[in-house]
Amino acid sequence: MRLSARTSSGIALSVAVSTFVGVLLSCSAVPPPALPEPAAARFPAIAPPLANVASAYVLAGQRALPVRKGEDVHGLHNLFQLSANLWSGSEPDGEPAFEELARLGVKTVVSVDGKRPEAELAAKHGLRYVHVPIEYKGLTDDELLQLAKTFRECEAPFYSHCFHGKHRGPAAAAVGRLVLDGAAREQVIAEMRQWCGTASDYEGLYRDVAMKRMPTPEESRDYVFDFPVQRSFGGFREAMVVVARRHDALKKLEKRDFALDPAHPDIDALESAKQLADTFATAGTLAEVVDRPADFHGWMEGSMVEAAALRDALQRLRAGDATALAPARKAYAALTRACADCHAQYRNY
Ligand code: HEC
Repeated sequence: MRLSARTSSGIALSVAVSTFVGVLLSCSAVPPPALPEPAAARFPAIAPPLANVASAYVLAGQRALPVRKGEDVHGLHNLFQLSANLWSGSEPDGEPAFEELARLGVKTVVSVDGKRPEAELAAKHGLRYVHVPIEYKGLTDDELLQLAKTFRECEAPFYSHCFHGKHRGPAAAAVGRLVLDGAAREQVIAEMRQWCGTASDYEGLYRDVAMKRMPTPEESRDYVFDFPVQRSFGGFREAMVVVARRHDALKKLEKRDFALDPAHPDIDALESAKQLADTFATAGTLAEVVDRPADFHGWMEGSMVEAAALRDALQRLRAGDATALAPARKAYAALTRACADCHAQYRNY
């Protein structure tokens, strides 16, 4: 009795909202129908949250899935089709990647990364972006509402991505599997771990997908959200987005002793190291960073010093001094350790 009363008032409210600002808040150009059918009827029942799970990552290893490897095609990496509704993978790298997504039939691209999506390039290929940046620590209630609303109200199939398509993107896709496909919790966390490769470092992402209550269709419909194609961050988070791209370029080139790669003419180790050193130097002075504890500043300063050492060694290497390779490797390794150490303390939990 109480439940049905709540449901009908929920529907009444959302009818009022959608007739008032329906065009503004709709994901598509087509306004929603004035009298939508009860939302619950259109979506599958959501598997209830799992209880008493000590480690959702460990549980994700228990339901054995057939072995699958991610595909690597046209600037899409770690690409998986998880269902008729959902694909998961890396940040689309250049125009061919968007062409490929359109060819696969994808209609909506959901980015959960901090970088501003290439929304214009996507639109050129008929793809609608929705930007819902999430963190590595887990999914907040607002983020879950934004994701659930996007999956329920924008056009399927969806391509969910972060930067590498391994951790945050697959967690968002798993939310889609719960709300659109009615998949089991054990199944979707197994897909994160066994297929997409979400690391054990991100227990928060596993935990929330396994154990959080997902928004009901009424809750996501009544949630006010305008499906932004791009959100931008200033400050430290933006600096991290830049740092991650430059570090990724160095990681690729380190395997070739930091020499230029004809297969990736757009990336240059020396330029990347210069930009890393500059970005860490600037980020270290941001007002939002000043009050951080001493170990945080230690890792920031360490990163700045190692990035500068890497830059200087690469400059010598570029000038023909082969003895600079060892110090360059050492600085790169130290820099990479600082990322992991600081993240373990301040980003991942
Ligand atoms: C001194 C600590 C520290 C160091 C060093 C550091 N990070 Fe971060 N990083 C953070 C914190 C804190 C966040 C979360 C920021 C936020 O969401 O506001 C973050 C976020 C990120 C993100 C997520 C950005 C997004 O999409 O929201 C990436 C990627 C990242 N860092 C990569 C790196 C890499 C690669 C390195 C090393 C070259 C590095 N970081 C070094 C503290 C650090």
